[in-house]
Amino acid sequence: MKDYIKIDEWKIIEEGFDPHLNKISESIFSLGNGRMGGRANFEEAYSGDTLQGNYVAGVYYPDKTRVGWWKNGYPEYFAKVLNAANWVGIDIAIDGEQLDLAKCKVDSFYRELNMQEGYLKRTFTATLPSGKQVSVEAIRFCSMADDETGAIRYTITPLNFDGEATITPYIDGDVMNKDANYDEKFWDEISKQAWENGGYVQLRTKKTGFEVATGMMIAVSQDGKTLNPELKPVEKEKYIAQKFNVKLIANTPLNIYKYAANVSSQNHEAKDLPQIAKATIQRVFDKGFDQMLQEQAAAWAEKWKHNDIIIEGDASAQQGIRFNIFQLNQTYTGEDARLNIGPKGFTGEKYGGSTYWDTEAYCVPFYLATAPQKVTRNLLYYRYKQLDKAIENAKLLGFKDGAALYPMVTMDGTECHNEWEITFEEIHRNGAIAFAIFNYVRYTGDHDFLAEFGWEVLIAIARFWSQRVNWSEDRQQYVMLGVTGPNEYENNINNNWYTSTMATWCMDYALTVAEYIKSTHPQRFQELAEKVNYREQEESQKFREIIEKMYYPYDEKRQIFLQQDGYLDKEQILVKDLPASDRPINQKWSWDRILRSCFIKQADVLQGIYFFEDNYDIDTIRRNFDFYEPRTVHESSLSPCVHAILAAKLGDEARAYEFYLRTSRLDLDDYNNDTEDGCHITSMAGTWMSVVEGFGGMRVRDNKLWFNPFLPAKWQSFSFHVGFRGALLNIKVSKAGVQISNQTSTEVSVVVYDQEGLIKGNDTVTFDVK
Ligand code: BGC
Repeated sequence: MKDYIKIDEWKIIEEGFDPHLNKISESIFSLGNGRMGGRANFEEAYSGDTLQGNYVAGVYYPDKTRVGWWKNGYPEYFAKVLNAANWVGIDIAIDGEQLDLAKCKVDSFYRELNMQEGYLKRTFTATLPSGKQVSVEAIRFCSMADDETGAIRYTITPLNFDGEATITPYIDGDVMNKDANYDEKFWDEISKQAWENGGYVQLRTKKTGFEVATGMMIAVSQDGKTLNPELKPVEKEKYIAQKFNVKLIANTPLNIYKYAANVSSQNHEAKDLPQIAKATIQRVFDKGFDQMLQEQAAAWAEKWKHNDIIIEGDASAQQGIRFNIFQLNQTYTGEDARLNIGPKGFTGEKYGGSTYWDTEAYCVPFYLATAPQKVTRNLLYYRYKQLDKAIENAKLLGFKDGAALYPMVTMDGTECHNEWEITFEEIHRNGAIAFAIFNYVRYTGDHDFLAEFGWEVLIAIARFWSQRVNWSEDRQQYVMLGVTGPNEYENNINNNWYTSTMATWCMDYALTVAEYIKSTHPQRFQELAEKVNYREQEESQKFREIIEKMYYPYDEKRQIFLQQDGYLDKEQILVKDLPASDRPINQKWSWDRILRSCFIKQADVLQGIYFFEDNYDIDTIRRNFDFYEPRTVHESSLSPCVHAILAAKLGDEARAYEFYLRTSRLDLDDYNNDTEDGCHITSMAGTWMSVVEGFGGMRVRDNKLWFNPFLPAKWQSFSFHVGFRGALLNIKVSKAGVQISNQTSTEVSVVVYDQEGLIKGNDTVTFDVK
């Protein structure tokens, strides 16, 4: 764990330069706008330890799988989001000496991520080996208002000399993914060109054929006056620069403005990309840096209006939650149904930038409450569009008749994961996709979605489960063998309670929805039944029989759901009795030792209890929580939030708060010692859930929002926004009461501590705090 980020409610601040922390900071201070983004690499050259990363959403490469022992059914490729052209670079040489913080004496250094207005600022004073001292201020952002663009203002001031600077702003597409399986480069150059004060490079990805044109335009001023230095184009493979010399005058700031655009063949005709890049940059160039920055602040103000969480009395918690919300908004805006939320967003390469069950299980609740309805609809539609591939994937593994197995990891619908215990066995992901449909309809009331798209997905998933179980003669029940639950520290287990519970729930829900469509949209039902070849009588009977005769492991003595058959044969040790030097076990123990131990990576039985909470009485929830949590090492960032919510439900405020702290500052404090690879974007939605569903106790039941809040002891108050069925509510919990303000004219009914109240348009109602 680290403790170097300065506390501020709206800013992430690093003071002083420690090269050992640089890669962590590059992740934390990342920028994005849903369409493009990148790590907080320096503009000027840096020869120290760095992970260079710029990414364009949806642009990926299918890297050939690399495994030790090939197994039939493995995917051929692992699609990964590509490290794309670097548009931020500006090389600076002063009287022939390169500015490189790894080679200078860094006299002062300050880095700030301004979350309120959405920009990254860095200032430093450095002494070059020659003794020349400069101060620099660099401000940069990826525009939220114009999402194919970004801009930089780089100001350099010589402090103790006059001299000559050679400045080279560039676009460099000769980049590599650190995680490339065969050390290959994934881009080919298509074209490049320099024009008066700009230039672009157009690249095409190998195999996938995505084309991206990345371009820049430059403006220079000194002491407030525009300069027109002579620009000399420099061209290399996949690289273009405009080099110029300027006289530096002591204590006189020189501003270099770099306007950039990333335009891709996903959104434009490939052949037009050069002109579009040029026109796009010209547009923002004409607008100018200050106006772009103002528009950026306005776009962020609009976002914060809908999703800010305010915590009074705990600046560290405030900073933590805002950082999570900020990064989620930078990663996914919901504008484009082809995009999704990679576990690292634009902050690193790990996990390939692909879609996991994280989206449905963790991110959907966040976007449901904080973004327009279409944003979540787009996330669900993304999976609908990939249904054919999920059916193909299941077929490849031996399933039939329209059964679908969605991939564990994907970019375009094809499976990309290639560890058998996950690819073939971690099939519970199918359940999360069905659950997200249920969750969306429960939250929005958009039942039409079911008839339009949802049921097709549900029936295909239900078919998969009906074929994945088998009848046990011995038990006279259906069983599900050879699975991996959410707890990846157990593989190839039989009858994982969570997976089996999800499976029968999916079958039941698919049947319920079928009945609903049949009665409300009979003609559509007919069409759908024909389209998917639904053998209503036979299939519904089969589903019902499985639902009725499914086996779920249970321990009578402890009265708990058993994670899987045989779990209690394991030596039962508690995490608190593990020596600190053994943790995290995934870094300290052999895999074999982990598999034989009782330790649980992340919520498994408790994940199921979280999803289906209303099916269980409070004592059942408590018994399971008290048994499983002490055996859970929380070595997935997705774990603490589910525990925070359940602890809150159980009235264990102190533990709920403890779990919240682990999730909220996970990256800021580098809790798991892995932030340098990128931030844990999907678990950030879990942090939001910990506040809203945990401390706020928010649930949706009977088309209403229910709240059961408590105020963490350290806080004076907390408040959050949720959008619900056309209304925008602000819920503030303080010692004075639970105050709900309706910021729209649409009235809504809420239930607070089981007491129902109508919140009229633009009205505020206060309930007593329990
Ligand atoms: C977790 C998975 C998760 C993945 C990506 C793994 O460590 O165990 O549940 O889907 O990370 O976030």
